[in-house]
Amino acid sequence: MTARIIDGTAIAAQIRAEVKVGVAALVAEKGVTPGLATVLVGDNTGSHKYVSMKRKACAEAGIRSFHTELPATATQAEVLALVQSLGANPDVHGILVQLPLPSQIDEAVILNAVPLEKDVDGFHPLNIGAIAMKGRNPMFAPCTPAGVIELLDRSGTKIDGADAVVLGRSNIVGMPASLLLIQRNATVTICHSRTKDIKGTCRRADILVAAIGRARYVTADMIKPGATVIDVGTNGVDDPTKPGGKRLVGDVDFEAAKEVAGAITPVPGGVGPMTIAMLIVNTLKAARRSAGLPAKAI
Ligand code: GUN
Repeated sequence: MTARIIDGTAIAAQIRAEVKVGVAALVAEKGVTPGLATVLVGDNTGSHKYVSMKRKACAEAGIRSFHTELPATATQAEVLALVQSLGANPDVHGILVQLPLPSQIDEAVILNAVPLEKDVDGFHPLNIGAIAMKGRNPMFAPCTPAGVIELLDRSGTKIDGADAVVLGRSNIVGMPASLLLIQRNATVTICHSRTKDIKGTCRRADILVAAIGRARYVTADMIKPGATVIDVGTNGVDDPTKPGGKRLVGDVDFEAAKEVAGAITPVPGGVGPMTIAMLIVNTLKAARRSAGLPAKAI
């Protein structure tokens, strides 16, 4: 049987439309227009592209964006001063510092300076800590992991009681995705470079989240028949037929995997569009809270 394809582009478009309605309601009810500040340091091509996509999504949803670019030579004090001034600006409800930062800047110091209530990326250690603890309500969940959960929910995958395996333990995806799955009562195993039997572990997963950054690492024989496979990978591989000589593939061997899985996300068009959708959800949440309303945005 061929897997159901989970269409992240369509689901993200639906969420963006819901956010647009929520933004208009907030403007009408409280006169508050949500605002997102984006901070870009240096000239990483990928980061420039991502930030411009994030700003475009904001504009389409009626969210104001405040963009600042600093040169690759910016000092830690300059970046810190910028984040602090955005923290004090009442028109800015969310602050996004695009990662990675240049090596002279201590990422932890910068992320700690984002006020909790404006941490729409969900990277502040107190937000991550709240996700890790029972009975604590994080202000925000990090966007890509939140997008993974949303894809599972909106594609009808049951998380409660499922055996979930997360490949990768990064701060941005693997670790927070694991914590969100535990919050939702999945039994979670995290696999990483020192895991003894990755193949066997993956094969037991009802839900497999691949976030290790290795092109087509997950082969069909690593997938339990009928499992839901969420591919977070975005790897460029050589393809002379494409304009830039490169093509985007995920961490999963999609063509083979779709013959075994029950449901699967493609790359592109799976998790990617969800990250931006969840960012604007979080920005609307932040603006609603600042206006004294319940955070629930969509
Ligand atoms: N770099 C890669 N992914 C992300 C993300 O979700 N947010 C930020 N700020 N930087 C990133």
